[in-house]
Amino acid sequence: MHDFNKLCFIGAGNMCEALLAGIISSKFFPVENIILSDIRKQRLKYLEEKYNVKTTMDNKEAVKVSDIIFFSVKPQNIATVLEEVGELLRSDQMVISIAVGIPTYFIESYMKEEVPVIRVMPNTPALFQSAISVLSKGKYANDKHLNFARELLSCVGDVDILPEKLQNAAAAINGCGPAYFFYFIESLVDAGISVGLNKDIAKKLAVQTMEGSVKMLKESDKSPTELRRMVTSPGGTTIAALEQFEKGAIRYHILKAIKAATNRAEELSKQLMK
Ligand SMILES: NC(=O)c1ccc[n+]([C@@H]2O[C@H](COP(=O)([O-])OP(=O)(O)OC[C@H]3O[C@@H](n4cnc5c(N)ncnc54)[C@H](OP(=O)(O)O)[C@@H]3O)[C@@H](O)[C@H]2O)c1
Repeated sequence: MHDFNKLCFIGAGNMCEALLAGIISSKFFPVENIILSDIRKQRLKYLEEKYNVKTTMDNKEAVKVSDIIFFSVKPQNIATVLEEVGELLRSDQMVISIAVGIPTYFIESYMKEEVPVIRVMPNTPALFQSAISVLSKGKYANDKHLNFARELLSCVGDVDILPEKLQNAAAAINGCGPAYFFYFIESLVDAGISVGLNKDIAKKLAVQTMEGSVKMLKESDKSPTELRRMVTSPGGTTIAALEQFEKGAIRYHILKAIKAATNRAEELSKQLMK
């Protein structure tokens, strides 16, 4: 058993459900030690029936009976939640927040006590237990809190730890990343259709090729550059395609896109905290 035995989620939406499913299937917490709080009665009823979990519409009640308070509301609702429960939080509890762009100092500023806060940037593959989450600790959190949060987030995938100043940069890769890969697959499918394939086979070829390539990246000790060279023979078909990528300066545009996403995350954080 861990030091923290009771867990509540404030905000019982998609990410909460993904984590709940992961936690239950890994038996990290007994389901009777978890309580979900949300403003949507119907949503709570659905989760109660599906997972046999306790629910409440009273955030304060959930916070009072829990050791770990998981903030899983949208970033624009976090201030309302903090106004409601911030002063109730105690230093023997621990907060884990997945609200994108909300710094730990903002959360800490609503609290009377020195409450440990861990900020997390997960991503949507959490819904399929295949996330990569990035964790950072706040002013009052120590390695015990960080390790506990790491174990908890491991229920929905891989976890890495970074200094908080790099959260927005990480989010530009892992948070937005699924959209980049879907966009690339979408483009490959359209391109496949343009050279005579039907949509279904084009999609199957593109998706399975991506999956196989990811497996190669994970299981071989070769770099992406070496693996790319292995399929790029002189004067061949792959180089003919890659030359077009180079002409379109795709690499440059990817760099600019990641910078734009990082800057936007910073702007949004500032707006949310006004
Ligand atoms: N989904 C992603 O791709 C993703 C990836 C990384 C991180 N995140 C972060 O994860 C968090 C949750 O995202 P999500 O997609 O799970 O959101 P979601 O599905 O909208 O869930 C949030 C839930 O919280 C409820 N809520 C709003 N105000 C509340 C309050 N004062 N007290 C209690 N519950 C309240 C919402 O109800 P209403 O709908 O009625 O407002 C909704 O049911 C966000 O902060 C997001 O930034 C999401």
